[in-house]
Amino acid sequence: MGAQRALLVTRRLTDAVQARAQRDYDAVLNDADRVFTSEELVERCQDVDAVLPCHSERFTAEVIAALPDRLKVIANHSVGVDHVDLDAAREKGIIVTNTPDVLSDATAEIAILCMLGAARRGAEGNRMIREGKWDFWSPAFMVGRQVTGKRFGILGMGRVGQVTAERARGFGMEVHYHNRRRLPPEAERGAVYHERFEDLLRNSDVLSLHCPASTATRNAINAETLALLPEGAILVNTARGDLVDEDALIAALQSGRLFAAGLDVFRTEPGGNPALAALENVFLLPHIGSATQETRDAMGFRALDNLDAVFAGREPRDRVA
Ligand code: DGY
Repeated sequence: MGAQRALLVTRRLTDAVQARAQRDYDAVLNDADRVFTSEELVERCQDVDAVLPCHSERFTAEVIAALPDRLKVIANHSVGVDHVDLDAAREKGIIVTNTPDVLSDATAEIAILCMLGAARRGAEGNRMIREGKWDFWSPAFMVGRQVTGKRFGILGMGRVGQVTAERARGFGMEVHYHNRRRLPPEAERGAVYHERFEDLLRNSDVLSLHCPASTATRNAINAETLALLPEGAILVNTARGDLVDEDALIAALQSGRLFAAGLDVFRTEPGGNPALAALENVFLLPHIGSATQETRDAMGFRALDNLDAVFAGREPRDRVA
């Protein structure tokens, strides 16, 4: 099956996934493990039937227009597909797939880590010890926010949002959410639905972002929306940096309007935002929501399953365009 197909793998994947890709495809691996420029991406796609990229490769309309006719599939190793111009792919007849479901648990774990790291001043305490500056202790020292019994607001109640809600319930939190559509009661599991995003903001002691980045959600968190959160709220973002106006977030963190933020994603990746990193009340991680062995294997296998389906003439399970 598919043995003669040429496949470009843009990033270093787990050993098991790379081994399967090499077994079943004429796979070109990126062992240099750096992000290709648009020109390099186009150039390397010229002699392949499919590409298996991550969220880091941007398939803009220009890049897609320059892809060869033989390239039939973009099988993403990611659930997010904001890096691919889906309309341009449809127009060119390229199938696009993603890897939903398999990363929900891992990403929910990171959201909870970000919440607790922010609420309990994890970055500040960690830095203090590492820099040899822990020279004092008292009951008034390093006092943070307890999340037990607080309201956990979710923007985007898809698969990751629903698993994160479940984990938050484990901390005795009351779940609130805003979503394009209200969920059925069995999926809602007692969560309070807010038809208007503004109402979710007013009811979130912790606000956790789980919606895709799109023209509709870009900068959803900005000076106006941050001002609607309760005084001393916490923002958690494990979805996409584009959802947040980082200058507005910095202002809210500096003024104390927000108690803290826990962030796994940034406008600029890799690298993040040095102005955010300079703040003690920000707990930061380098986009590792799905970075566990189990999940990265499962994502890679799911991407390969989608490719196999296309080349076997079947509809891929996770087609998004
Ligand atoms: C995703 O799957 O979209 C994650 O952000 C990792 O790429």
